[in-house]
Amino acid sequence: MLVAAAEAAARWAPSVLNTQPWRWRVHPDRLELFAEPRRQLGVLDPDARLMILSCGAALHHACVALAAQGWTPRVTRTRGPSTVGPLAVLDGFEEVAITSAARQQEQAMRTRCTDRRPVSDQPVASLAIRAIEASATGAVRLQVLTAEQVLDLAAAVSRADAVQALDPRAREELDHWTSRTMTEGVGLSPEALPERLAQTTVPGRGFGHAGTLPIGAGHDRAATYALLYGDGDDPTQWLQAGEALSVIWLAATALDVSVLPLSDVVTVPGTREALRRVLKPLDHPYLALRLGIADAAPGVLPRTPRLPAAQLVEVVPAERR
Ligand SMILES: Cc1cc2nc3c(=O)[nH]c(=O)nc-3n(C[C@H](O)[C@H](O)[C@H](O)COP(=O)(O)O)c2cc1C
Repeated sequence: MLVAAAEAAARWAPSVLNTQPWRWRVHPDRLELFAEPRRQLGVLDPDARLMILSCGAALHHACVALAAQGWTPRVTRTRGPSTVGPLAVLDGFEEVAITSAARQQEQAMRTRCTDRRPVSDQPVASLAIRAIEASATGAVRLQVLTAEQVLDLAAAVSRADAVQALDPRAREELDHWTSRTMTEGVGLSPEALPERLAQTTVPGRGFGHAGTLPIGAGHDRAATYALLYGDGDDPTQWLQAGEALSVIWLAATALDVSVLPLSDVVTVPGTREALRRVLKPLDHPYLALRLGIADAAPGVLPRTPRLPAAQLVEVVPAERR
């Protein structure tokens, strides 16, 4: 059951540029989650905040997989990736009833995906927005932005994009991770990237080149934007932000609401500070999100591939404990 949970998390969790920057070590009595520095974005994500956010999403995915099998773990969150130790340890598994909510979350885990195409002109119902907001119950919360705040977000996203476009090392790293083939199992291939830039108020991440994903005529006019935020800005909080991202994304998926993370705006220090002004004085933004109803017109979205489980999950034999 531990191997299955680690494999499910490795297979289904979202990660920045599909880097899958995690490694699971499965012991007979516990699961350990490590950040994988070989798949960190050294230029685009020098503090490793997006790497740890991605690992947090994988951590929550493992808990979802366990809950769907009737197990709940004790989760111990440890230090950041500068140390060699794990980011989190799951042990002390208790058998629990398999609830319909657990089954629904597991189903959402298998169907969730990132859709970068403009959303439809149908707004997300306010009841669904409230349910998605309410799904973040811990230290990390979701703030839905007002129309005026969306303009601040748009300005910050454009500026972050421009800063990265002017940096040749950032462009090179982006190109390295977004010019993959589907069979490599990591990074993004042209099939996942829009064929052209959509005319939207808040631009999606600029990948430096167009892809082959057909997009509709929409302009994201009915999209809702939100910030994932909390009251600290260190690796422990980034891990929890990743867990909250997973909770929110799965809740949204279950409600047929599409979620698109916008992350370069939080890795460029100046634009992250600009976003802070949207929040209360002591709060910090972890990620911006676009919420919307997917536009069915352009057709089927190909699934982003994953690395083989053997590269992400190590099973430790009992005698090595
Ligand atoms: C921390 C984090 C940041 C992300 N930032 C972006 C982003 O800025 N733009 C984008 O289009 N997708 C972003 N994504 C989505 C990933 O690219 C996506 O999860 C990954 O390619 C795997 O594809 P899937 O979500 O369809 O499984 C982000 C995901 C995570 C977890």
